[in-house]
Amino acid sequence: MLYLLDTAELSEIKRCLDLYPIAGVTTNPSIIAQENRPYLELLKEIKDVLGSEKMLYVQVLAQKSNKMIVEAKHLKEELGANTYIKIPVISEGIKAIKTLNKIGIKTTATAVFTPQQAVMAARAGADFVAPYVNRIDNISAKGVRVVSEIVKNFRIHNLDSQVISASFRNVEQINNCCLAGSDAITANPELIEKLLTHPMTDEGVRNFVSDWEAVYNRKELIK
Ligand code: E4P
Repeated sequence: MLYLLDTAELSEIKRCLDLYPIAGVTTNPSIIAQENRPYLELLKEIKDVLGSEKMLYVQVLAQKSNKMIVEAKHLKEELGANTYIKIPVISEGIKAIKTLNKIGIKTTATAVFTPQQAVMAARAGADFVAPYVNRIDNISAKGVRVVSEIVKNFRIHNLDSQVISASFRNVEQINNCCLAGSDAITANPELIEKLLTHPMTDEGVRNFVSDWEAVYNRKELIK
């Protein structure tokens, strides 16, 4: 199970890469637009920070397959290896995924709200699918159940696409997706940090130091 960072904010990407076992960064047009900068310049800076090993997920904006393919090739050419092109699971997107798969450009089918969207995308050749857990919850359906049914479908039908669960508002949603067998989760830096936060952990750490200090008269292990 991999942790991905759902942001285009460079300082936060640097901070989180330093702290956490982050395998890559996911973006979408809304996330990039928040930075209000020339998109390629920004994406190249993110790529530099990520280095050659970590993954960058970038989305097309077009809604017609031929234009999606042009955008995908452009992003791949500009950003190089370990760039994964996100394509929404509309009909034209599935058509684009089929072509991109044939020419060796790796894709993530995104904006997935149902198990069948994910199965169709996987069958078309998507390397990853991204179900939107919180947005599914928001329309009174069950995001985690959708993830679980995607995982089950992929196993039953031997589909080797991976599941990147996305769109989260809380730690419980993330943990439930991990338990459902999601291959990765992507979340913003604030939520990634919350995966670690517990008041009892903080209290325990404070007590270790004060117990030590009471005996050794200092707060450090090494003098
Ligand atoms: C990630 O790839 C998705 O674009 C993102 O997680 C959507 O999240 P949101 O529902 O918080 O906008």
